[in-house]
Amino acid sequence: MLAVTGTAGRFGRLALAGVLALTARRTDVVALTRDPARAGADPGRPDVPTRHADFARPDTLASALAGVRRLLLVSTERSPRRFHLHRAAVEAAVAAGVEHVVYTSVVRAGDPGNPVPEAADHRRTEELLAGSGLPHTVLRFNVWPQMLLLSGLARLAVAHGELPSGAAGGRVGYITREDTAWAAARVLTGTAGDAAGDAAGAGTVLDVTGPGLTDAEVAAALGEATGRPVRHRQVTDADVPGALTALGVPAPLAAGWGENDPFRRQGWFDVPDDGTTRRLLGRAPVTLTGFFTAHRAELLAGTR
Ligand SMILES: NC(=O)c1ccc[n+]([C@@H]2O[C@H](COP(=O)([O-])OP(=O)(O)OC[C@H]3O[C@@H](n4cnc5c(N)ncnc54)[C@H](OP(=O)(O)O)[C@@H]3O)[C@@H](O)[C@H]2O)c1
Repeated sequence: MLAVTGTAGRFGRLALAGVLALTARRTDVVALTRDPARAGADPGRPDVPTRHADFARPDTLASALAGVRRLLLVSTERSPRRFHLHRAAVEAAVAAGVEHVVYTSVVRAGDPGNPVPEAADHRRTEELLAGSGLPHTVLRFNVWPQMLLLSGLARLAVAHGELPSGAAGGRVGYITREDTAWAAARVLTGTAGDAAGDAAGAGTVLDVTGPGLTDAEVAAALGEATGRPVRHRQVTDADVPGALTALGVPAPLAAGWGENDPFRRQGWFDVPDDGTTRRLLGRAPVTLTGFFTAHRAELLAGTR
């Protein structure tokens, strides 16, 4: 049986839909979530057998993982207890005799010098998996362009014709949430074949990334998708929150968004793609311009 955790979440839901699309028999798949009742009442979520699985309640995990052969372990949100939640999940997978775990990490998580706040929990989880004896595949995702929409930043950049940041020429290999979910579904179901490196058995680490783009190129993609010129404006790290709030980004989001600018500049989100992502997907990833074009109405909302 195949199982996906976190299926009430945005990524987990997409991954579950992908797994179902790639699996002949629905009964071979089980959806795991903290709140099966809420998930079951969600009209947007695939209708599939659902079990209660809360990493904060290890007592739920033995029954949740009973009979599960391959598990997609979806990382939880950034929080002080995130690693402990992941450890409970990995320990439960070992105890339940799961044969293979697919884990959703972030690019360059394995580098102990990685200063990106997001990275440390992922590195510890990867190390835990490596020491667990569980055959596993780590999928290291680059940044979802959805993050640019969440903060309102992309829409406001279009409205003002300006994308301020401190990233300079730093590149980010944006890859959509949908593409990462499809890659995970293909790896979980064995559809990605050798591209997933399953044959390696003990542990395989793969980057799932798009081509690295500077903020000038992000601005150009916004312009191309919306038909409105947008240019990148370089500001100092200290000035990023002020420049973003001046556009209309709420202050807490503006402060958070600027957090990664030094790391973008230093290249922590710029990873070479040797074709692995295309092989995992079985097609080319969606481009940033393609993503923005699909969200054109949202990007132009409020623009006169
Ligand atoms: N690559 C990127 O740019 C990027 C950006 C943001 C986040 N991420 C990572 O991707 C993950 C999924 O993102 P998303 O947008 O789908 O987030 P989301 O909609 O906020 O979902 C959060 C996920 O965490 C799960 N979760 C939280 N606490 C849990 C617990 N105690 N036990 C089991 N599962 C728990 C939730 O599962 P249930 O609600 O179903 O129980 C849900 O799947 C995030 O948690 C984060 O690690 C990546």
